[in-house]
Amino acid sequence: KPRVLSGVQPSADSLHLGNYVGAVRNWVKMQDDNNCLFFIADMHSITVPQDPAELSQRTRVTAAQYIAAGIDPEKSTMLVQSHVPEHAQLAWVLNCLTGYGEAARMTQFKDKSAKQGLDSATVGLFTYPVLMAADILIYQSDLVPVGEDQRQHLELTRNLAQRFNSRFGETFTVPEPKIMKETAKIYDLQRPTAKMSKSADSDNGLIRVLDAAKENAKKIKSAVTDDGTEIRFDRQEKPGIANLLTIYSAVTDRPIPEIVAEYEGKMYGHLKVDLAEVVNQTLEPIQQRAQELLDDPAELDRILARGAQKGREIAAQTLAEVHSMVGFLPPS
Ligand code: TYM
Repeated sequence: KPRVLSGVQPSADSLHLGNYVGAVRNWVKMQDDNNCLFFIADMHSITVPQDPAELSQRTRVTAAQYIAAGIDPEKSTMLVQSHVPEHAQLAWVLNCLTGYGEAARMTQFKDKSAKQGLDSATVGLFTYPVLMAADILIYQSDLVPVGEDQRQHLELTRNLAQRFNSRFGETFTVPEPKIMKETAKIYDLQRPTAKMSKSADSDNGLIRVLDAAKENAKKIKSAVTDDGTEIRFDRQEKPGIANLLTIYSAVTDRPIPEIVAEYEGKMYGHLKVDLAEVVNQTLEPIQQRAQELLDDPAELDRILARGAQKGREIAAQTLAEVHSMVGFLPPS
């Protein structure tokens, strides 16, 4: 079975709808036909300052949401990035194969460092995509399901894999990104041309998986739409409505044209009320299950310990091969 790998940063108290619809919901569907590994990218989180107590709690909360959303730890391996030190060890080797200019061209770094200023942006943030490449390559991954914002990082990962293979000999599987066309980018409800993101200026455009149904319904009902009245899917002319239709389709697994047909002649308000309902119908069981899991953190930690053990078996093999290929003297 192909190896599928992906992860989310535990840098908030809850996943948002972009993470869920753009990533985790798609992972769930891949579990039967693939050999899946899903991890929590805590090492990526500290590329910007994190409160230590919050970080460990958020790591558990993220793990709980994976399972609550449908990741089955019996089928898929689930682990915490920092529990498998081979990620960082491979990242070092890959850092030494990455051009400075190549890393400097990563748009996510350019955006974030422009906001923060070059002295508060850390070297960790700069080399973040290389650590991401290591996450993927250490498990010889074939497929990486992510949202559109990770496309450039996947391109870098492929380049690094190919570069290593041609310089030192065939070692890495060159992975393919799997970016679902429809849900690749979920937009902010208040600014439907900007991606939904935990770092948005206003909180009102962000739906969190673990937020109360009432709060999420309120945000959906006040989502920004255009002045027209017609409900149709048009990203250019009607980005707000297109976004609501995308979310509707994703959480109900129904095709967009079918939903559009159902709302013919109806008003935006109808769509919003119904969308709030289907979103909450989807999120409520996830919230409940996540809470149950968090009530028993020892069990959650056991799942993660098992995952780390399985992960290390594969990661150690790849790392040994890499070290030997680059000419590191084996420890005797
Ligand atoms: P992160 O934590 O920012 O986001 C997790 C996943 O959610 C997707 N996503 C979205 N999809 C659609 N619409 C949105 N508005 C939206 N916002 C986020 C992201 O594309 C991602 O798939 N660097 C990664 C974590 C990572 C990783 C990896 C992923 C580290 N190593 C290796 C895959 C493989 C990140 O920061 O994602």
